[in-house]
Amino acid sequence: MMPIIEVVDLRFRYEGSETWSIDGLSLKASEGELVLVVGPTGSGKSTLLRAIVGLVPHFYRGEYHGSVRVCGIDVSNTPVHVVATKVGMVFQNPETQLFSTTVEAEIAFPLENLGVPRSEMLIRVEEALRATGMAELRKRNPAELSGGQKQRLAIASILAMRPEVLVLDEPTSMLDPVSASEILEFVVRYCRSERRTLLISEHRLDLLVPLVDRMVIITDGKISFDGRPHDFFLRGTGEEFRIKPPRVPEIYHKVVAAVGPNKYERVPLTASELVELISSGDP
Ligand SMILES: Nc1ncnc2c1ncn2[C@@H]1O[C@H](COP(=O)(O)OP(=O)(O)OP(=O)(O)O)[C@@H](O)[C@H]1O
Ligand SMILES: [Mg+2]
Repeated sequence: MMPIIEVVDLRFRYEGSETWSIDGLSLKASEGELVLVVGPTGSGKSTLLRAIVGLVPHFYRGEYHGSVRVCGIDVSNTPVHVVATKVGMVFQNPETQLFSTTVEAEIAFPLENLGVPRSEMLIRVEEALRATGMAELRKRNPAELSGGQKQRLAIASILAMRPEVLVLDEPTSMLDPVSASEILEFVVRYCRSERRTLLISEHRLDLLVPLVDRMVIITDGKISFDGRPHDFFLRGTGEEFRIKPPRVPEIYHKVVAAVGPNKYERVPLTASELVELISSGDP
């Protein structure tokens, strides 16, 4: 099957910078795959996501080598607004993303541009407002929303567009844990049911690690792990990659360290898996 995202030997250095922010990175994702991008601060996560939607090199300029294809489009020679019809992106800083005078209009505007019929548009706007807990704020001015509300709105806009690929860069960094998990769970359910491809960078690993198909760890602009989260945490907690491990695998490895070597082929990723493992008397 043709990959829906295909990054081949990408190197990128921002204008005026001495170092390569992306330094020889290749990555493929197929349709419907959910991929979590993890890495320490400054490792290149945002730069990679910008490159996948074409903001790198069209908006953020610099020295660019290699290629990025998404939905069969070479993004480096396609205008960003064309890529945006297939790929929805939520930025780390939602300020940069809002244009309209009401929350509703902000969600509806891109749909008008995509030529979505009005009746369909109303349905999609409603659904997106509800999914992100924004229904009561529909008449508010986006500029006056809190940081967390702006993030909800940015996610709502993307959901309403139903793009083939969703690229989310720390989309819930300004939200409280409960709202963040509600929204992320909705996004994951949506991508699963509609077979959308998701690429998400998030530091809330507890929630996403059990839900995604793949975890890609980036350090110094390169991929240092690419595989199933389970296989990653079976080896350890990932401290050598300078990431904060999710709580369940962390507890599990402490238990294993206390009671003897791990002879089991399975590491729990959720609290209920941990309870199950402990009550079975295995570790
Ligand atoms: N607009 C920019 N101009 C110049 N350099 C930049 C720009 N954005 C990022 N960089 C540099 O590129 C490197 C990778 O940054 P990037 O923002 O992609 O990392 P990140 O993994 O997203 O970090 P964080 O976890 O803090 O969001 C860093 O060295 C950073 O300083
Ligand atoms: Mg970032």
